[in-house]
Amino acid sequence: MPDIMMNGAAGRDHVGELCLSGKGVTKVYGMGARRTVAVDHVDFEFRKGEVISIVGESGSGKTTLVKMLLALTSVTEGDIYFMGGKRDITTRQKKHDYWRGIQAIFQDPFSSYNIFHKIDAVLLDCINMRGGKGFSKEKKTEMMSEACKFVNLEFKELTNKYPFELSGGQMQRLMIARIFLLQPRILLADEPTSMIDACSRATILDMLLNLRAEIGMTIIFVTHDIGLAYYVSDTVYIMERGRFVEFGGADDVILRPSAEYTRRLIQDVPKIHEPWDFTKRSPRAVLT
Ligand SMILES: Nc1ncnc2c1ncn2[C@@H]1O[C@H](COP(=O)(O)OP(=O)(O)OP(=O)(O)O)[C@@H](O)[C@H]1O
Ligand SMILES: [Mg+2]
Repeated sequence: MPDIMMNGAAGRDHVGELCLSGKGVTKVYGMGARRTVAVDHVDFEFRKGEVISIVGESGSGKTTLVKMLLALTSVTEGDIYFMGGKRDITTRQKKHDYWRGIQAIFQDPFSSYNIFHKIDAVLLDCINMRGGKGFSKEKKTEMMSEACKFVNLEFKELTNKYPFELSGGQMQRLMIARIFLLQPRILLADEPTSMIDACSRATILDMLLNLRAEIGMTIIFVTHDIGLAYYVSDTVYIMERGRFVEFGGADDVILRPSAEYTRRLIQDVPKIHEPWDFTKRSPRAVLT
């Protein structure tokens, strides 16, 4: 790829094997005058246990890429590889198998649930999806309680409620409880913390990072917030108008950016959000 800047090799030697990668991945919406190239020939390599951030301004193609990774929209051109082989989602069954390995939490938690399903049903679905259909009722309740406890929700207070009866923050925590039960290999998080205050935001991020530590999941954060990306990621990809203009270790990309666009994003940080205190950032886990 000629026009991408790879910042140093540091930080990429210690991560695990490839779990999700793409070559020339492209998405074109519409035709003729309405044609939009939302994602334009991107290459990427995400590794096991890695935390990756994809950063870019509104409209740069982040959600479109996420939808392709999740097999929620077709890929116009290019290939996606999953756990060492070319991704095969040609049948319903294969697609469902793929979704067992890759899950997402979205910008708008309200869109993620079937509003006619009570919360118990939402969580029970996760247990069933992971092969727990035959478990006893007690075992299932215990698993659901444990998942709620992990995200500081009280399962007893949630039974018999519908998702729309929860607050935005509770909904987001319920999404993480689902992930706790599903234990996917890869979690895509599209602006997972945009709806909540700074304090809950830090808690949610901690929960996701704990989950990474606990089950060795790969997390891909999609965000406008380069400060957040620096705070949580091993690797950062910078997206501008459908292309990756720069990627590499978080320190390299954010402290020593090569692309003009990255410099601009960094300059904009204090204007968009409260400044992040980079000095308090905990060292990233060494992945094996
Ligand atoms: N279903 C669609 N049909 C046509 N064009 C679309 C569709 N979805 C997205 N686009 C266009 O593709 C481009 C990328 O959109 P996308 O939603 O991927 O951006 P984004 O980086 O996620 O933005 P944001 O940060 O605002 O969420 C935009 O120009 C958008 O208008
Ligand atoms: Mg988006």
